[in-house]
Amino acid sequence: MAAPTISKEQADASFSKGLEGIVAGETSVCSIEQGGLWYRGYEIHDLALHATFEEVAFVLLEGHKPSASELARFKGELVAERPLPAPVTNFIESMGGSLHSGRAVPMDILRTCVSMLGHLDPDSQSVEQAANLRKAKRLLAKIPTMIGHMQNVIDGKAIIERERGGDPTLDHAANLLYLMTGSKPAKEYARVVDVSLILYAEHDFNASTFTTRVIAGTLSDMHGAVCGGIAALKGPLHGGANEMAMEMLKEIMHDVGEAAIGTKAVNDWMQKAFDTKRKLMGFGHRVYKNGDHRAPILHKLGRTIATTDTKNPGGHAAIKWFDLGEQVQKIMLDKKNIHPNVDFPCGMTYFTMGIPVPQYTPIFVASRMSGWCAHIIEQHANNRIIRPLSRYIGEAPRQWNG
Ligand code: CMC
Repeated sequence: MAAPTISKEQADASFSKGLEGIVAGETSVCSIEQGGLWYRGYEIHDLALHATFEEVAFVLLEGHKPSASELARFKGELVAERPLPAPVTNFIESMGGSLHSGRAVPMDILRTCVSMLGHLDPDSQSVEQAANLRKAKRLLAKIPTMIGHMQNVIDGKAIIERERGGDPTLDHAANLLYLMTGSKPAKEYARVVDVSLILYAEHDFNASTFTTRVIAGTLSDMHGAVCGGIAALKGPLHGGANEMAMEMLKEIMHDVGEAAIGTKAVNDWMQKAFDTKRKLMGFGHRVYKNGDHRAPILHKLGRTIATTDTKNPGGHAAIKWFDLGEQVQKIMLDKKNIHPNVDFPCGMTYFTMGIPVPQYTPIFVASRMSGWCAHIIEQHANNRIIRPLSRYIGEAPRQWNG
């Protein structure tokens, strides 16, 4: 038998389940520390307060803050790339039955649409930087169109803006809401979604981004890497948590009843969850142990919408979700010392705005596409295949005919 690449002692010493604490590569896209989150050096509170999603996507993809003319050019490129090729729209329409029956879910439809786009993209097989940048913009522009068209199919409506993929006067976030509903969103709603997209855009070597880098590291193409990213993001331990967090709050509300918010009944529900070792969705983080910097930003915006906007789909009743969510947060912190991550306020916020729950993680994709593509470009530009080792825990060597 050939000598193992590393000794058992070395394997034992370097092993870390889930790669916790392992530095698996270098990046100039994003930096995460207990004390902060920076996209190419810009701190997340600064971006959430002063930037738009398009500006942030430009910073991630092109590497610097855009000038006014660069931003106008970038936004124009995105608007021009919004329409979907007919085969992709036809595919979405053909999935109506499967979406209604639950056999197909929006994240899987999105993954297939991206795969189809790869077959139709003139740059699909190139991993050159300029081609990658063109593909990144096309993908970024088209995801909201896919989400909108899919929602129209789910709602049994005709496809909105089939030819243009939206209203060219609307930005990424506002256009996404418009495509889903057919109505131009209120300014406050569009800004809350815009900020949520800024917060979701990038997060260094999270599971989905790492997946895209592993795929890109074999010199495979951007569409393939993004399909892998979507599949990884879908999981409830990662991006799927924003949907699951809201489902969990609905379950608590159903079990204890609205009148019990603020009472011991919620504590009892939580204690049962702790006793059965249930994972509470929207809580905990592999890196942030003292709280996710993004969560309070979104929580504050969501609570404001729920409190002040009587026209929100839940009316003032929407505030009950924040009241319940805040009680759940307090119990988690007091009993387990676990903080909410960004997916927890995201659930309550999108719900308040009337966004259908199965679209929460696809909306995450509409944002994270910028971060994924920045990482794929970085990986291709300075590549070494990503190929770690495993620690063998199976049978000792033995003979087939022994
Ligand atoms: N509910 C209950 N217990 C938890 C939770 C939770 N949400 N998160 C962590 N714990 C427990 C965990 O079971 C472990 O307990 P024990 O020591 O008794 O085994 C302890 O806390 C430490 O966990 P950890 O090592 O910090 O967790 P991890 O790094 O392996 O996993 C995580 C991180 C995010 C997968 C996990 O916290 C989790 O499953 N959270 C719920 C899903 C979720 O909200 N995911 C979104 C992640 S952040 C944004 C994103 O990616 O979209």
